[in-house]
Amino acid sequence: MARSPDSPVGVFDSGLGGLSVLRHARAQLPEEDFIYIADSGFAPYGERSADWIRARSLALAGHLLDRGAKALLVACNTATAAAAPALRERWPRVPVIAMEPAVKPAVAATRCGTVGVLATTGTLASSRFAALLDTFGRDIRVVTRSGSGLVEAVERGDFASDATRSLVRSHVRPLIDAGADVIVLGCTHYPFLRPLIQQEAGPGVSVIDTGLAVSRQLQRRLDEAGLRRHGPAGTEHFLTSARPEHALPALRALWHAAADLSALSLEDCDRAS
Ligand code: DGL
Repeated sequence: MARSPDSPVGVFDSGLGGLSVLRHARAQLPEEDFIYIADSGFAPYGERSADWIRARSLALAGHLLDRGAKALLVACNTATAAAAPALRERWPRVPVIAMEPAVKPAVAATRCGTVGVLATTGTLASSRFAALLDTFGRDIRVVTRSGSGLVEAVERGDFASDATRSLVRSHVRPLIDAGADVIVLGCTHYPFLRPLIQQEAGPGVSVIDTGLAVSRQLQRRLDEAGLRRHGPAGTEHFLTSARPEHALPALRALWHAAADLSALSLEDCDRAS
C-alpha cells in the first residue's frame, strides 16, 4: 500500500508504557491515525538480549508497515537502544522516530551537578546510552538505577498500591541519597508512576522524560516528509500480543474508558521468536 498523509503512524512498545509518548503525540497531532502495538505478551524487554529485542522490533515494525504505516514511532527506550539503527537500515525511506533518555535536558536542569537516571537494564547497558553520557554527561555525575519490577507494575495497572509505592521507594531512594536533584525517566512505562516517583523524590527534585520532545520530533519528521495528515480527528487502533482481556483494564485506565484492544495474531509473534 502506498504511503500517503492519510496513512497511520505505527507505534510500538514492549507494553503499555509507550502510551506515555502516544498521549503527547495525540495532543500534538490531533488529526493523525495511530496503530499501537503493546507487546505485553513479551514484556518486559529490559532483561532480554539485544539480539532478541532487535529481531522482535524488526518483526513488529514489519507488521506495522504491512498495515500501511507511513512512519514508525519506537515508543520504547529499550527497543530504541537495541534496534533503532537496524530499523533505519532495513527501511531507509521510512521516518523512524525513537526515544532517548533525557540526559541532555537533565544536565541543563541540575543545580547540584548530580543526575539520576532510572531505566531498564537493557537501556543502561547499551552502547547508545554510553554514547549519550559521553556526549552530554562528562561534566556532571550521573547515577543510574535499573527499575526492576516497575514495568510489570504498570502492565498490571497497579499505579498506587503499597507494594508499588515501596518498589518505587527502593529505586528512587538510592538516587536521592546519592545527591541527585534531577531524575530522568528513561523508560516509557515510568511516567505512569510519576506521582509516586515525585512523592518519594520530594518537591526539590525535577522528574523529567522525553515524551513531549519525541512527539515534537514526530511532527517535524512528518512535515519534512510531506506526510502530515490534515482532516477530521484521528483515531487510535490498539493491538496486543497478550490476551486482550488481560491488558484491557490497564489500557482503559491509561488511555480512555472506551478504548478497545485487538489481538496481534500468533503468527506475528512467532516471526520474531
Ligand atoms: N517501555 C520500555 C522502555 O521504554 C520498557 C522496556 C521493558 O519492557 O523492560 O524501555
